[in-house]
Amino acid sequence: MSFGSPHRHWRRVDSTNDRARELAQAGAPCGTVVTATEQEAGRGRHGRRWSAPAGSALLYSAILRPLDARHALLPLAVPLAVCDAIESLGPRRCRVKWPNDVWIDERKVSGVLIEARPPEWAVIGVGINLTIDAGEFGPDLRWPATSVGHGVSADAAREALDGSLSEWAEADQELVLEGFAERDALRDREVSWEGAGSGSGRARGIDAEGKLVVEAGDEVVVLGAGEVSLRPPG
Ligand code: BTN
Repeated sequence: MSFGSPHRHWRRVDSTNDRARELAQAGAPCGTVVTATEQEAGRGRHGRRWSAPAGSALLYSAILRPLDARHALLPLAVPLAVCDAIESLGPRRCRVKWPNDVWIDERKVSGVLIEARPPEWAVIGVGINLTIDAGEFGPDLRWPATSVGHGVSADAAREALDGSLSEWAEADQELVLEGFAERDALRDREVSWEGAGSGSGRARGIDAEGKLVVEAGDEVVVLGAGEVSLRPPG
């Protein structure tokens, strides 16, 4: 399968995920990609907002359909596709902060919001900061942020992501787990979380279902991405 055809671009939308969801519900084909120059109501994970100055980020939502067992690790596969796309555009090394933030030099450069109606479709929403200056990031950010830089345009980033997502969206689960382990930014680091219970411990990688394994004293705790939110080190 391949992403990027058809491609619909809006200058300004509420959220590209909302536009893509409407298209999915209306029967748009697998591979459809929606982008925008600007979002008025961009959404992040856990009900948070996602905002970027107009024209300075890739705002991208892709339709994947139908969904089946091959897509069980999609939330981990998508940030791997983002890492490959960014690295193909310049001398950057990307890592993934579980479950699906992408970091450059310990700062968040991209976030992923997947919304799905299984088994029919998923909307894969990706925001990548391209040319946002350090001073332009809002003061309410949870994690320190950065941009890809190097003059990378939204078109170049979109084409790179179309290509890498086409490879990763249906990659074998073993490959996804291996790829994630290679890029795991949290491995062997102290993490703390909130949500369904809170706690802290040392991250020890992910299990076969994509959950984060944490050693917390004598206990091993397994965290689901939908249940908890990691806290930035404070
Ligand atoms: C996060 O880090 O919390 C996820 C952020 C996802 C943002 C992207 S931007 C394109 C797409 N449209 C949205 O409203 N959200 C996603």
